[in-house]
Amino acid sequence: MSDKLKQDINEASKIFILTDENVAPFWLPETEYGLGCKAIDIVLKSGEQHKNLQSVQRIWKTLMKYHADRNALIINLGGGVITDLGGFAASTYKRGIRFINIPTTLLAMVDAAIGGKTGIDFGGGKNQIGTFAEAEDVLIHPDYLITLPQRELLSGLAEMLKYGFIADPELLQVNLENCKQFILRCGDIKREIVEKDPIEKGLRKILNFGHTLGHAIESHCLTTDRPLLHGEAVALGMGAALWLSEMKFGLDAAVLQHFENQLKMLLSETEISLSEADVEPILNYLVHDKKNNDDKPQFVLLEAVGKPIWDVEVAPKWVEEALLYIINKVC
Ligand SMILES: NC(=O)c1ccc[n+]([C@@H]2O[C@H](COP(=O)([O-])OP(=O)(O)OC[C@H]3O[C@@H](n4cnc5c(N)ncnc54)[C@H](O)[C@@H]3O)[C@@H](O)[C@H]2O)c1
Repeated sequence: MSDKLKQDINEASKIFILTDENVAPFWLPETEYGLGCKAIDIVLKSGEQHKNLQSVQRIWKTLMKYHADRNALIINLGGGVITDLGGFAASTYKRGIRFINIPTTLLAMVDAAIGGKTGIDFGGGKNQIGTFAEAEDVLIHPDYLITLPQRELLSGLAEMLKYGFIADPELLQVNLENCKQFILRCGDIKREIVEKDPIEKGLRKILNFGHTLGHAIESHCLTTDRPLLHGEAVALGMGAALWLSEMKFGLDAAVLQHFENQLKMLLSETEISLSEADVEPILNYLVHDKKNNDDKPQFVLLEAVGKPIWDVEVAPKWVEEALLYIINKVC
């Protein structure tokens, strides 16, 4: 435990640990013991469908019930849903109290728990309501991954590959066997980018590589009986973005060819049932993406591996083609 973490815990007037029903039985007592603190536990239902206002209200109500003041501390113990939700609840309660993230999924360790974006889904769209608020501390402990299902590990691997495409080609070699050794590297890349552009005026947008279509696919699939995990949807979005990069910027065709094999691995624990009929609803979600400029979807594309370009407007016809390409590839 870092000195900063010890200090945060010692200085807190009350400590709340926010987690979900899957993480709690494995890790709640152990974490509380490890931190050496007595906390009030808030255990939420798991899953993206609970990253909503009702869950935030439940957190706020518990904070009020226990008279949490502005020196209270929330420890978010879980995946990206918990770190997004807990960060949002903390940053809005009494105009903001401190929080610490202890990510327990690979995806949260390399991405969601770092960088200060918090939020909830609202009105049918992903992350529509949120704040920029930095965690006081992010405690990364790969041991938490021991209990994480393989499908969730693969979802995190997709986000690790994203860093390979936008920043460090070495990360394109990441796989289930070697992923733990690259966790800190991914976090460092994200921190470097966020430090240069904390509120996403420019450079930070490259972290959205694969996310423009990925979020739209994820939002659409959440309304079906076959929801996709965040990383799975991002993997599809990255496939489409690589295809568009090849078409628009002459990205070396070998990059997409190599990724097509990785895509099979990333999606090996799920069954994708997308067809041409899904194209229109996915494109509708795309138009409502909050990162759009004037309702025009903005893409991050690559000139080459490690050379991303952001704010690329792509004609709807090309977006549709890219979507059809990826749907035909995986279904
Ligand atoms: N804020 C950001 O910058 C950012 C970046 C990327 C993703 N996100 C968000 O992160 C979310 C996805 O995060 P996620 O993939 O971690 O999903 P998640 O939080 O839903 O966790 C995945 C599943 O694994 C379970 N779980 C978590 N840790 C476990 C463990 N150690 N052992 C066993 N089970 C465990 C959870 O209960 C859940 O069922 C999305 O909502 C996405 O929008 C945010």
